[in-house]
Amino acid sequence: MLKLKQFILPNISHFIRRISTSAQLRHEESFVHRDSADNNANTPFEFTEANMMRIAAIIQNYPEGAQRSAVSSCVDIVQRQMGWVPISAMHKIAEILSMPRMRVYEWCTFYTMTKRRFRGKYNVKVCVTTPCMLRGSDIILQAVEQATCCCAGSLSEDGMFGVDTVQCAGACANAPVLVVDDDYYEDVTVCDVQNIIQAIKCGNIPPPGPQSGRFSCEPICGPTTLCECPPGPGFCIQPALLK
Ligand code: FES
Repeated sequence: MLKLKQFILPNISHFIRRISTSAQLRHEESFVHRDSADNNANTPFEFTEANMMRIAAIIQNYPEGAQRSAVSSCVDIVQRQMGWVPISAMHKIAEILSMPRMRVYEWCTFYTMTKRRFRGKYNVKVCVTTPCMLRGSDIILQAVEQATCCCAGSLSEDGMFGVDTVQCAGACANAPVLVVDDDYYEDVTVCDVQNIIQAIKCGNIPPPGPQSGRFSCEPICGPTTLCECPPGPGFCIQPALLK
């Protein structure tokens, strides 16, 4: 019997470890809250006086009874005040906007821009959805992990960086895309990633936007439409209609 146990148990533990490792757990993080010592319903949170005034002004923008439309602004204000959004702050928002707590949870778990736990002094997000993936987001993610010494989903040892993978960041025409807090870095290469992270480590914020020299999301090879002087009024109109 002992021999049988010794033979079976190592195999079972090996098997269990393979089934339950990170991918599933990390996936759960984006939409499930689990109470922790620093993030629970009793975590102290109060808006500052200045932020309460901001919220009061924002609520005025919406008709009577529709003040819940200010939820996105309120979540953003919490994040700028604290650096992340604890569940107690979500409760506070629900109370101020007279809306069910569940509606605030829904908002916060849907948008990946909401940090529901501390994500480092600089939160680096790498878009891994199809257009970015086709343009090399796997390699970009690797470069970010190397440059920050931090695996996706975790924090660097000094707490300076938190790296996350996100779904479409809404800038597919400039894939691959890297987001550092509020700033988008587009058309990035491995070299750009190294330069951006190095600059941040040195206390600088590199200029955001396309890193390829493009001004915006125009074709990289130059304009492909409206290359000629546009025709004037009356172009292609039947002569009879011009009289
Ligand atoms: Fe990356 Fe849309 S897929 S920005």
